[in-house]
Amino acid sequence: MAINILISDSLSEDGIYPLRQERKLDLNIVIDTGLTPDELKVKIKDFDVLLVRSQTKVTRDIIEAADNLKLIGRAGVGVDNIDLDAATEKGIIVVNAPDGNTNSAAEHTTAMIMALARHIPHAHMSLQEGRWDRKKFVGVELKNKTLGVIGFGRIGQEVAHRAKGNRMDVIAYDPFLTAEKAEKLGVDFGSVEDVVKVADFITVHTPLLKETKHMINKEIFSLMKDGVRIINCARGGIIDEIALYDAIVEGKVAGSALDVMEEEPFVGNRLLKLPQVIATPHLGASTIEAQESVAVDVSHDILSYFNIGTVRNP
Ligand code: NAD
Ligand code: MLT
Repeated sequence: MAINILISDSLSEDGIYPLRQERKLDLNIVIDTGLTPDELKVKIKDFDVLLVRSQTKVTRDIIEAADNLKLIGRAGVGVDNIDLDAATEKGIIVVNAPDGNTNSAAEHTTAMIMALARHIPHAHMSLQEGRWDRKKFVGVELKNKTLGVIGFGRIGQEVAHRAKGNRMDVIAYDPFLTAEKAEKLGVDFGSVEDVVKVADFITVHTPLLKETKHMINKEIFSLMKDGVRIINCARGGIIDEIALYDAIVEGKVAGSALDVMEEEPFVGNRLLKLPQVIATPHLGASTIEAQESVAVDVSHDILSYFNIGTVRNP
């Protein structure tokens, strides 16, 4: 019997090549991006596998309507767009691709830190608008500044590595970071409070969980150095956006670079109107390499599940 696979977000065609060339299993691959939640709820009934990126919200409603669903594949890291409790209750396996976009996300974060420090987007726009304004865009160096990294997993560590290449000092907070590990990685470590008190740039790299939602809030902003710069290329919601807005307007925060926000797409978000903010539309993992890699990883998991009954990364 055919195994029906629905791909509901746009994925790399090269990345799903392992599925396309599978011969032992009878795979029926349907690509249908841009479905509304109601359309997906109807369509999902016929499918054994749902393959998504971050745009499709796999809610309880959709999972409950999914009579044949056995596996949800997430071509990326964050699984906060999938109702894991609802999937577990129905015995549906959820697999993600935790490593495939680490490098791209770390490079994007580094690019955002540099663009923020040197006003690159605004200087470019000003030049495009016909101005030769050199005084307005005086930046700051990264050398000898302190980067605070909150969430020291795959991406946080890669960002730290690159920051050290830019001669920054790095201090990190992660509940799983020990003194030995920090020493081995050549970074200082402390509590969130310790980190934000000394950092000139603060970048967050945690998942979005109950514990991390708004972990960077009004109280935490009040502990930061004046003129601090804040970067979020992880998940909207880790930083309380109202507190960030106020901290920028009050002059506490000199600038912020955001790839993600609480509500996406975030066209029209008032933070975008502040000249101190630069932003990209959730592009951290948007490289040819990362998109191929995450789709390949999840494709292999699908094949492994239906061929031998196990997955690498449930
Ligand atoms: P990871 O699991 O390797 O690292 C996350 C780290 O956060 C872990 O070390 C964990 O211990 C730590 N953590 C958990 N709870 C914490 C807390 N309360 N306080 C501090 N640290 C805590 O994940 P990763 O691959 O490094 O991804 C990090 C984030 O980046 C995720 O939110 C992921 O979804 C996001 N991401 C975004 C993009 C993008 O396109 N912008 C791309 C890839 C990943
Ligand atoms: C992720 O969690 O992997 C990122 O949000 C990238 C994405 O899939 O868009």
